[in-house]
Amino acid sequence: MIVTLDGPAGAGKSSAARALAARLGWCYLDTGAMYRSVTLMALEQGIPLDDAPRVADLVERTVIEFRDGRVLADGRDVSTEIRTDRITQATRAVADAADVRAAMKRVQRRMAEGLDVVTEGRDQGSEVFPDAELKVFLTASAEERARRRLAEELERGRASSLEQVQESQARRDEGDRTRPVGAMRPAADAVLLETDGMSREEVIDRLAALIAARLAERGSS
Ligand code: C5P
Repeated sequence: MIVTLDGPAGAGKSSAARALAARLGWCYLDTGAMYRSVTLMALEQGIPLDDAPRVADLVERTVIEFRDGRVLADGRDVSTEIRTDRITQATRAVADAADVRAAMKRVQRRMAEGLDVVTEGRDQGSEVFPDAELKVFLTASAEERARRRLAEELERGRASSLEQVQESQARRDEGDRTRPVGAMRPAADAVLLETDGMSREEVIDRLAALIAARLAERGSS
C-alpha cells in the first residue's frame, strides 16, 4: 500500500511520515531530502544546477537511502549538510527543472515498487503516485508552521528568529506553489488535514486511523 503525505514546509509531514512508517514497519521516502541530496552532490561535483540533463542523470545515478532517521547518499550520511540554508536555497533551481522532476518520479516509483510505503513531499499524491490508496494533504497556518520550524531549528542548535523563519517559509511556499511542473497541490482525491492546534501524536494517530480504515475497506472489498 502507498500512502502519500504532501503539503507545505512545517505542516508536520516529516515527523508524521517517519513515525507512521516506523509504527507500521513500512518504508519511508522523504522526497524533499532526495531533492536536497542531489543538489548537494551536484554542487560537490561541479555540475551547474541549471544544467537539467546532467542533474537528471545524477538523480538516476545517486543511491539515496533512509536508515534510522538518517539520509545516506551513495552510502554517505548527508543528513546535516542537506539542511543548511545554502542547500535549502539551491534546491529551488533543481526542483524547478522538468527533466529533473521526471527523473525523480522514475526513481521514486522504482524505490516504492512492491513495497508498503509512506512517502512525503509536494507532488507525491498529485504526480508521482496518482494511484496511491491513501493521499493526505497536510496544512497548518503560516504562524503555526513557522513556530514549529523555529523549534526544530533551535533543537538543531541553529540561531533563528520567528520573522526569519516565516519570511523564508513564505518564499519557499510561493516557489513550490507556482512552479510550472510538479507544483505543490492536493490531489483531487486527497484527504485534507488541517493540523493547527494538534500535537504531533494527534496527527500521527489521525493518519494511522485513516490508514486502518483504508486497510479495512480493502479487506472487505
Ligand atoms: O520538504 P523539504 O523542505 O525538505 O523540501 C526541500 C525542497 O524540495 C522544497 O522546497 C521543494 O521545493 C522541493 N521538493 C519538491 N518536490 C517534492 C519534495 C520537495 O519540489 N516532492
